[in-house]
Amino acid sequence: MPESQLRIAIVGATGAVGREALSLLAEAGHPASHVVPLASSRSAGAPLPYGACTLRTSELTSEALASCDAAIFAADAETARRFAPQAAEYGCLVIDNSSAFRADPAVPLVIPEVNADALGSRSRLVANPNCSTTILLTALEPIRRACGITRIMVSTYQAVSGAGLAGIDELREQTRAALEGRSVPSKVFPESCAFNVFTHESPIDLETGFNLEERKLINETRRIWNTPDLEIIPTCVRVPVERVHSQSVSAELRSSIDASSLRSLLARAPGLELIDDPATGTFPTPLRAAGRNPIAVGRPRISVADQRITISLWICGDQLRKGAALNALQILDHMLGTTLAFDRGAHHASPVES
Ligand SMILES: NC(=O)c1ccc[n+]([C@@H]2O[C@H](COP(=O)([O-])OP(=O)(O)OC[C@H]3O[C@@H](n4cnc5c(N)ncnc54)[C@H](OP(=O)(O)O)[C@@H]3O)[C@@H](O)[C@H]2O)c1
Repeated sequence: MPESQLRIAIVGATGAVGREALSLLAEAGHPASHVVPLASSRSAGAPLPYGACTLRTSELTSEALASCDAAIFAADAETARRFAPQAAEYGCLVIDNSSAFRADPAVPLVIPEVNADALGSRSRLVANPNCSTTILLTALEPIRRACGITRIMVSTYQAVSGAGLAGIDELREQTRAALEGRSVPSKVFPESCAFNVFTHESPIDLETGFNLEERKLINETRRIWNTPDLEIIPTCVRVPVERVHSQSVSAELRSSIDASSLRSLLARAPGLELIDDPATGTFPTPLRAAGRNPIAVGRPRISVADQRITISLWICGDQLRKGAALNALQILDHMLGTTLAFDRGAHHASPVES
């Protein structure tokens, strides 16, 4: 079937990830008549922009999915558990953004630049990794392939839209209030997010001390790289940024690399953009990476001590794009052999490389 004939459902189309998926499909020129936006009964009939058109949201039902060839799920895990396996049984290709199937060995967990080979020819349900995992592994993959990685330490600086559209509303409302000398109680986050930084709000495991976001990073990295014993030490943090997760990462290598080879690996790797110009002080920032497909990497450094070689990077990736909607569409492209996510594997030349 020509790709323009595919009927694609976006489940959770009214949310932050769903809207991004619509925007990517519209950018790719997929016909509006072949896009089916679905959400809860609360949103039935709600208008959604799609390029120059407006689509109407329908309530998610099994029947609505049965008429589609593919579905990008961008709702909660419970909704995914209820509807995604059934849709896959009907023959729909399903990519789920929630955490529902990420630990299920029967469901591939895929970042196309990293482990497209995990997609079997008969896969009909595929899990999209957590946004922090996708951003980290896309950036580290060329280094892992060239040198091997034996240990990772990473701190994240995560945008409020990681908690959905409600996170953005809370940041805006609390910022406005703080500037006017008022305070607004928090609903989405446990702490005020305006002018504040706090460790990720997900529940902490009392035995290990890691919160759920950190455990996802550890477990999903080990699964995707097939390295069950890899040491990964994450600290996940929320910052008052609307979109784009940033990360400060150091990775110990199995074999050495020189500075110019490291730069050239990063500059050539699919899905990355090297932004690193010490002369002008131009490095990745959330504002530079927002609304863009490539993960911005910069500040590459190499330290050697006690025969241990460690590289360090500063990374900014749009978690609504490569961390969610774009990765899901790239998976769909791989499953179908199409080019809906128009820049799959494309190399982005760096506009600001020294
Ligand atoms: N935000 C990110 O950066 C990010 C990154 C990676 C993965 N994810 C995952 O992607 C999913 C969506 O996240 P989001 O940030 O887009 O959340 P969001 O902005 O809160 O949107 C949630 C969406 O799910 C829909 N929904 C809720 N209950 C539903 C139901 N019973 N039936 C059908 N649709 C339902 C909502 O529809 P209504 O408008 O009708 O309520 C809305 O469209 C989550 O599983 C999240 O963990 C998010």
